[in-house]
Amino acid sequence: MKKTALAHANIALVKYWGKRDAALNLPAVGSISMTLEALSTHTSVDFRDDLPGDMLILNGRPAAVKQEQRVGAFLDLFRREAGITAAAEVVSENNFPTGAGLASSASGFAALALAAGAAAGLPLSPTRLSELARRGSGSAARSIYGGFVEMKAGERSDGTDAVAVQLQNAAYWPLAMLILITSEQEKELGSTEGMNRTAQTSPYYPAWIASSVSDLVAMREAIAGKDFQRLGEIAEFSCFKMHGLALSADPAILYWNDLSVTLIHEVRRLRRQGYGAYVTMDAGPQVKVICLPEDAPKLQQQLGQIEGIQRILPTAIGGDARLIND
Ligand code: PMV
Repeated sequence: MKKTALAHANIALVKYWGKRDAALNLPAVGSISMTLEALSTHTSVDFRDDLPGDMLILNGRPAAVKQEQRVGAFLDLFRREAGITAAAEVVSENNFPTGAGLASSASGFAALALAAGAAAGLPLSPTRLSELARRGSGSAARSIYGGFVEMKAGERSDGTDAVAVQLQNAAYWPLAMLILITSEQEKELGSTEGMNRTAQTSPYYPAWIASSVSDLVAMREAIAGKDFQRLGEIAEFSCFKMHGLALSADPAILYWNDLSVTLIHEVRRLRRQGYGAYVTMDAGPQVKVICLPEDAPKLQQQLGQIEGIQRILPTAIGGDARLIND
């Protein structure tokens, strides 16, 4: 039966970078994210006996073989659990640029997990869905939930404790984010390759793992106390620490472009003028600005004047991944 799901992207406030197990995609560190209302993936899955193999239509076009294989391997997890062998037709649409450091794998695999589980007739709890979504992409485990979400690194070798939990729902604290698109090109180095290279070559990697624990504690406290300045400071610290870590890999990994650097300086300048605005960035050149909703229009107006920005996506905090009626 065909089932359709919608999941929102999320942006980590405390970053995940590094895996403790490649096969099960287990993270080496925990992470905390904010789910994003304006960025979503809409995916339908239909297991059908008449298909010669899995088919993936991504943003209106047949997907590349590599992407189709990644999705096929992910669907095998659901087929095995449901005891079915049928191939699936998967149709997926992002309402934002794919593969440019905008967490398309997070919303993509969360929506796919939810739709595939329902289409295969599996009764899956949110925890189990989060565990399965993680197999597609680490950050996808967090996109099962709305609001503020913590992904546990877990300790078990089978990964059953490497799942996300919701810290607070979307209504708890209405923060905003401005996503400054500096380039719509696909990123050069995927997060898995970037993480592997970092773990294998950076002398800073052990310090990154050790120091992530106190970032998680501090971020939980900032969220519990609705302390915006603290949240912004920890988010910037975790982000720049992750990018410094990536730069310390051999060869160095640099996800930023010229405009990313200009925008980081601009956000700092705005902060000196009294604005509450903090930067976070992922495995791509886009700059995300964490702010309060009342400041978002003015910040958008100021940042929008900077030459070269392709566009700005303002967003509020989004809700849980959900099944939708076709
Ligand atoms: O889930 P992946 O493999 O796309 O990795 C996500 C890595 C970062 O976006 C850079 C950080 C994070 O925690 O989302």
